[in-house]
Amino acid sequence: MTTTAQEVLRSAIPGTPVVVAEVSVRGRTHELLLKLESGNPTGSIKDRTAAGLLMALDAESPLRPGMVVVESTSGNLGLALARLLARLDCRFIAVVDPNTPRATRRTIAAAGGELHEVTEPDGRGGYLLTRLREVRRILDANPGHRWTDQYHNPANPRIHQETTGPEIAAHPGLDAVYVAVSTGGTLAGVAAHIHGLGRAIDVVAVDAVGSLATGASAGPRLISGIGASRPSAFLTPDSYDRAHRVPDAEATAACRLFRADTGMALGGSSGSVVAACLRDLLGHHPPRRPLCLCPDSGVAYADTLYDDRWLTAHGLIGPTTAAEARLRADGIRFHLEGAYA
Ligand SMILES: Cc1ncc(COP(=O)(O)O)c(C=O)c1O
Repeated sequence: MTTTAQEVLRSAIPGTPVVVAEVSVRGRTHELLLKLESGNPTGSIKDRTAAGLLMALDAESPLRPGMVVVESTSGNLGLALARLLARLDCRFIAVVDPNTPRATRRTIAAAGGELHEVTEPDGRGGYLLTRLREVRRILDANPGHRWTDQYHNPANPRIHQETTGPEIAAHPGLDAVYVAVSTGGTLAGVAAHIHGLGRAIDVVAVDAVGSLATGASAGPRLISGIGASRPSAFLTPDSYDRAHRVPDAEATAACRLFRADTGMALGGSSGSVVAACLRDLLGHHPPRRPLCLCPDSGVAYADTLYDDRWLTAHGLIGPTTAAEARLRADGIRFHLEGAYA
């Protein structure tokens, strides 16, 4: 029996675990559910997105061996696409930028992906617009190449509505879900599913300070995977119940405290999501059972977010230690038994 491309792609989404952590906040202990998307085959939530985008491309016109697919990526989507396209005997060109972690680049190349790096900042705090210009240049020069277009393709939110949303909603008693935003595909899909259930669960957008994905002013950003240099095509302010915009130092502080207390290293955007949840736990109406959707782990960030020299070189060490001290002053401590929900 031959395996179809659709079967290969569907099997890329096995489902991910949820661990239950505890966090003390001003002397009170709260349960904190962490859905670990690092449990996907290439270690991030983008395995879902990549499978959804390629299933749509294949449904439009079958993906045949030798075909070339191009995509702009900050790293994780590139990793996921590289692996899946290698399994389908297709070629892959990843357009990346200087914020793409070195470890991620090595893995994309090892899976057979070709890397095209843009180096010119886009003037809106990142490289997205420059990356997209490069994608268009490659497509214009090679009319047979195909583009998954994660920023506009409705297959991006759809796969999260079909898989991520139902997996989250299967956990009883949730009253708030925290989701990081870049393309907005994850949030749009998760929100569509959860709001459609009519349950009292707040869907909280977590963006970066300086991002235009949900925000109004652009600025420099260093955390890979979260934020964008233009508004999300999938979101309106009605798509979510509230939003937090988290500065890099607050996200980094949450990552470092979580690792210090539990031994587990989260990725940078997961740090943003946890930091946003801590803000609400410190507020007047703390969620009773929040879930943080953690897009990846800290593995790729050992020489950036978890390295004092890198933080110093980027002017982040002072603001990070100040943010850590503020969180500790509020009595923030994490505890993880390794219990799975
Ligand atoms: C680490 C990480 N966090 C968050 C996101 C945001 O996901 P989305 O593009 O669906 O908004 C991504 C997407 O690239 C990511 O790689």
